[in-house]
Amino acid sequence: MKLILLGAPGAGKGTLASQLINKLGVPSISTGNLLREAIAQKTELGMKAKEYMDSGNLVPDELVINLLKEKIADCANGYILDGFPRTIPQAKALEEITSIDVALSVEVPDELIEKRMTGRRVCAKCGETYHLENNPPKVINACDKCDDQELSVRKDDEASVVRARLETYHKETEPLKAFYEERGKLREMDGTKPVNESFELALKVLGV
Ligand code: AP5
Repeated sequence: MKLILLGAPGAGKGTLASQLINKLGVPSISTGNLLREAIAQKTELGMKAKEYMDSGNLVPDELVINLLKEKIADCANGYILDGFPRTIPQAKALEEITSIDVALSVEVPDELIEKRMTGRRVCAKCGETYHLENNPPKVINACDKCDDQELSVRKDDEASVVRARLETYHKETEPLKAFYEERGKLREMDGTKPVNESFELALKVLGV
């Protein structure tokens, strides 16, 4: 399956992608994780992206499109795109590279997002995401997948940056729902249910 996950920051796209990988048997590409890796490695891309990400803005289309093109070239059997496209120009660029099957929009109201963000903890090594209450790791503050790796708070989860990210989402990314609806590819799901219920709901909406 060639799947795009749409939704506000904190809607649960990364969590769903991680659950869907095994079920669909395709890799997930998270542009957010790739950019955070580039920042950690202090690459030229990372240096350019950091300022945008720290302030809750989008990284310029050209940079992200090139990054995506590189990664998607290895995904002949399908993919889950988590966090791409995020603008109409990105969606149009994607259309030139590949034809998606479904754009699944995970719907969560803004009021719920802040609570999710303050409890989020991430593994800097593999990108796995947890929540202190809603989706805790098996061992306190340690990644389930990377044994001894301590979890950390994402820099852009600070309340004022979360508000900026939500604003950016409504202005730049939400119009993609109409874009994919026009193409008959949009499906929407309620993202407010607990983690495992959301996964079941996603499978139902996707028909898998
Ligand atoms: P990115 O990393 O993509 O962040 P995002 O879209 O803002 O999404 P998040 O990762 O914050 O949330 P999510 O929906 O994955 O939720 P999660 O599963 O973690 O992008 C970061 C930045 O990079 C952007 O701001 C931008 O600057 C840049 N960028 C990335 N892609 C770009 C692009 N294409 N173009 C330009 N710039 C780009 O869940 C959130 C929390 O809630 C977790 O703690 C989780 O455990 C918990 N949770 C998940 N599901 C549930 C549930 N069902 N019930 C209760 N809690 C839940």
